[in-house]
Amino acid sequence: MSKVQAAITAVNGYVPEYVLTNKELESIVETTDEWITSRTGIKERRILKGEGLGTSDMAVHAVNGLLKKRGISAEDIELIIFCTTTPDMQFPASANILADKIGAVNAWGYDLQAACSGFIFGLATASQFIETGKHKNVLVIGGDKMSSIINYEDRTTCIIFGDGCGAVLLEANEEGNGIIDSLLHTDGSGRNHLNMKAGGSVNPASHETIDNHEHFVHQEGQAVFKFAVTNMANVAAEIMERNQLSSDDITWLVPHQANKRIIDATANRMGIGTEKVMINIEKYGNTTNGTIPLCLWEWESQLKKGDTLILAAFGGGFTWGSIYLKWAY
Ligand code: COA
Repeated sequence: MSKVQAAITAVNGYVPEYVLTNKELESIVETTDEWITSRTGIKERRILKGEGLGTSDMAVHAVNGLLKKRGISAEDIELIIFCTTTPDMQFPASANILADKIGAVNAWGYDLQAACSGFIFGLATASQFIETGKHKNVLVIGGDKMSSIINYEDRTTCIIFGDGCGAVLLEANEEGNGIIDSLLHTDGSGRNHLNMKAGGSVNPASHETIDNHEHFVHQEGQAVFKFAVTNMANVAAEIMERNQLSSDDITWLVPHQANKRIIDATANRMGIGTEKVMINIEKYGNTTNGTIPLCLWEWESQLKKGDTLILAAFGGGFTWGSIYLKWAY
């Protein structure tokens, strides 16, 4: 009997309508379009506006479209893994909220927190439930409303992040396509370089934490850049090596979109040209858990059955990882 692998069988994405351009940011903080473009590759990002809307509301759009594409109903979903750093609430999980909003009454689910590597960690986790035969239809969501934790007076972070959400469906595949390998890492000693200082059990919300702007993303950009550029490139090269893949074997690199310079370094290390790299950072910035599924969504029409994809990400924690998969449709 051939091996059962977990394959992506549908993908969809959602980005909010509001476009926050570099030009508009020039009127909010002391920065320039030229600085942002040359240092990060970002030109604009999307912002979710509207009272009472959270990450799950973007996921509703992404998932409803995905179900329609695949021709199944929400009741067919058995498990939802919602990868996010900006859940609707501290609890209950956004996976529960989403299940209720879309009518996935037969699903159980949970949130997965691995910052910008979340979607890769989520895919690797979800694939186990398919490979073991435990579940048939598993949804993996990657999305964030980063604007809810960004200080728009901090020019070092507000230029980078945006809002958006992508979703994939995983199903069993016995044709040799799907997720073939994953390589995942965490190093908690990096926690001080990229975090949100307050709102957790160590430092609960108080007047003081609000006055000190501790409910926003804190990032030591240069330190994070150094780790990101090395580890994302290394992990992508490592997964190629252990699967005996040469640069010619790779159809697409699907990198986390944190900084164009980090993406270029990863492609370089893998020995592949930019024509094989999915890059949309100029339009959406860093949507944290959303970047990789949003790329898959945008490039879906160019993907062919059997294409070899390497996914790679780096994020707060630190966390980093890579997935090697063969496109299944
Ligand atoms: N506009 C203009 N100048 C800015 C600026 C902005 N938006 N933000 C920072 N600067 C200034 C700094 O104040 C500094 O000025 P100084 O030299 O007078 O002190 C100068 O630009 C250089 O700052 P630096 O932090 O060294 O810039 P950088 O080249 O490292 O770029 C980041 C900053 C944040 C874009 C970059 O460090 C980065 O992308 N880091 C990693 C991001 C990442 O991967 N995140 C997490 C993984 S998800």
